Amino acid sequence: MQAQPLGVFDSGVGGLTVVRAIRRALPAESLEYLGDTARLPYGSKSPETVARYSLACARFLLGRGVKLLVVACNTASAHALGPLRAAFSVPVIGAVEPGAKSALAATRSGRVGVLGTLGTIRSGAYEAALAALDAGVRVSVHACPLLVPLAEEGWTDDEITRAIARRYLGELAAKDPAIDTIVLGCTHYPILAPVLERVAAEVFGRELRLVDSATAMAAEVAAVLAATGGATQAGGTGRLACHVTDASRIDELAPRFLGEPLAAHDLVELAL
Ligand code: DGL
Repeated sequence: MQAQPLGVFDSGVGGLTVVRAIRRALPAESLEYLGDTARLPYGSKSPETVARYSLACARFLLGRGVKLLVVACNTASAHALGPLRAAFSVPVIGAVEPGAKSALAATRSGRVGVLGTLGTIRSGAYEAALAALDAGVRVSVHACPLLVPLAEEGWTDDEITRAIARRYLGELAAKDPAIDTIVLGCTHYPILAPVLERVAAEVFGRELRLVDSATAMAAEVAAVLAATGGATQAGGTGRLACHVTDASRIDELAPRFLGEPLAAHDLVELAL
């Protein structure tokens, strides 16, 4: 088991922010990444469709011999974690609980905001995860469907992005002006963190803490590998194999999320 790779999937390239965090925390582990770019976005699809797509992604990665599965997509984590854990015997790590834990570690006021896709927000997954960890925390959530395309376009410091962020964060502030911590509950959002942080300070009139799931997910992967004795014994840097279901723009988009050029990728067909 130790020599097997870790499997990571997302609806697209956003999950490469999680790959980046895992590679930083566990550089010797090899990774198999699948971005279901042909079917992105998951955020606007029904829970049943997202669960079906997620099972297909997982089957592909299990076929590549992965020892652990990371669901690097908040929407898939919100809709499909139960079915994935029921279908496969490898450990399955989602994005929502690690994001909720990061938020609880960061908040002082116990008032937390969550931004995510329509699917993640409608699922109530963050409210449930935060309530399970701390019944006293007050959670306000807001769907931000326009942030994914802005992140993909690389409009990370742009007048239009600032205007859209001002509107979303203003709507969140109207739900609870006492929020002190915001969860970036979507794998695409970390590359927008600087602009969201600046606009949040403007809208709320003070600095807020912004947290995402990536670092906490990497820590959870490390903890599971340590507990199961599954960590690689190899030294050096592990291999990253990147698979996508549609390769259009991948060479342009992937480096934005991975933080380095993508060495190579291949195109896969998923049977649904
Ligand atoms: N990766 C998705 C998530 O984290 C966002 C993109 C999509 O809607 O598919 O929720």
